[in-house]
Amino acid sequence: ARLVVLVSGSGSNLQALLDAATDPAYGARVVAVGADRDGIAGLDRAAAAGVPTFVDAVKAYPSREDWDAALTAHVAEHKPDLVISAGFLKLVGPEFLAAFGDRYINTHNALLPGFPGIHGPRDALAYGVKIAGATLFFVDSGVDTGPIIAQVSVPVLDDDTEETLTERIKEAERRQLVEQVGRLVREGWTITGRKVTIP
Ligand code: GRF
Repeated sequence: ARLVVLVSGSGSNLQALLDAATDPAYGARVVAVGADRDGIAGLDRAAAAGVPTFVDAVKAYPSREDWDAALTAHVAEHKPDLVISAGFLKLVGPEFLAAFGDRYINTHNALLPGFPGIHGPRDALAYGVKIAGATLFFVDSGVDTGPIIAQVSVPVLDDDTEETLTERIKEAERRQLVEQVGRLVREGWTITGRKVTIP
């Protein structure tokens, strides 16, 4: 199966997928990596693995709609079976969702529907929850609201800082991502309302 991964930052989730895909039994490989900005480690990781990259910055287009159309076209060129947002910090638009909405997944560093948005671990810590984690879900038009594929939990420790909690979550998050992407591509999936079924 063909994976296109979208990144905006360090790309450690991307790296986990690149590493998993070196085993042919995994059933998927990363055929392209897209980003919304230059100069990020995620793009370097792709290049180091010999995976083609593209960059679509919102400000390089006259409107958000034009950006959405360009991103959709660039992703489509690579004929993905699954598109993965792995730390991609942009909300895609209607054209992208029309093209890939049934196969566009995102990993979020909190247990949704708690703590959506870009500061999941910080918000969880501030709230005082005792269990944190990561959520893998199909993206819809909302912010971190789509049908959930899987969740993994980790404890919040008394002496956690934002950094230590973030790292504990990310470790579990990467494992979950690799496992669930493998499962999706090998077994397929159906989405009925909010329910994701993997046969
Ligand atoms: C992940 O924890 C993801 O949940 C969040 O940003 C992080 C991306 O990390 N949205 P990386 O770029 O894969 O290292």
